[in-house]
Amino acid sequence: MIKEVQQTTRGTSVSGGAGVKIIRLIGTSKTPLLDPFLMLDYFGSENPNDYIAGFPEHPHRGFETMTYMLSGYMRHEDNQGNLGLLKPGGVQWMTAGKGIVHSEMPEQVSGEMRGFQLWINLPSYAKMSSPSYQDYESEAVPVEKLSDGSQIKVIVGRTNNGTSGPVTNQFVHPLFMDVNLSAGHLWIQTVNPLDNSFIYIIDGSIYIGEQQKEVIQGDLAILTQADTISLQAGSKASRFIVASALPIKEPIARHGPFVMNTQDELIQAFEDFRKGHF
Ligand code: FE2
Repeated sequence: MIKEVQQTTRGTSVSGGAGVKIIRLIGTSKTPLLDPFLMLDYFGSENPNDYIAGFPEHPHRGFETMTYMLSGYMRHEDNQGNLGLLKPGGVQWMTAGKGIVHSEMPEQVSGEMRGFQLWINLPSYAKMSSPSYQDYESEAVPVEKLSDGSQIKVIVGRTNNGTSGPVTNQFVHPLFMDVNLSAGHLWIQTVNPLDNSFIYIIDGSIYIGEQQKEVIQGDLAILTQADTISLQAGSKASRFIVASALPIKEPIARHGPFVMNTQDELIQAFEDFRKGHF
């Protein structure tokens, strides 16, 4: 079965961190949740005023965050001793687990900064696990090159041709790829039929599914559940990110940087953070 477009959105402008201009695509009133994806933010600006304030020290508990940079430089530092400089094409996957305190600050004062942050929920049994951190520079992320010039950069998951990404995750078995297709290229990717999946168009346009629904730059398309993503680039070369993962199907109690299963666990998270237990 082929996935079709279930819903599209162009997101909502919000301010994140200490005042970073963001387009929130998942985690808004229009698209509150795509289990296990709790939030998807896109940031993209050439104006330093839009990003320079960054994301100073703040906590997380109960989920994972992935930051993927298209352009620009961002420094990550956390209280578990991890230090990383995110460069264009680089990825940082952080499993907050029982608690992490980190900052994500721009390492530039001018020029373009563009990228994504995705929040992925953890199942209840893993919410209080030890925090961990995976950091890969662009060169460490495999790119599958096809004969017509199309390229698939695989951050996590495996393409139908067998190219695998470096990030490991055993919780929701995610797939996250940055796909560049030549004009008219037909691309097929198999996923778990129970996965929830989305596509965000960075450049150009694509036609999704048997219904050939056209989505264009800036559109987020949420797909129906089926085992095959089938899409075709439009009349120009087109670039998009695609993500897919198994839903967790558990109750969610969330507030700000904490995502738990119950209200009591949420209160506990605030208390533990206040007492310096992270
Ligand atoms: Fe954060």
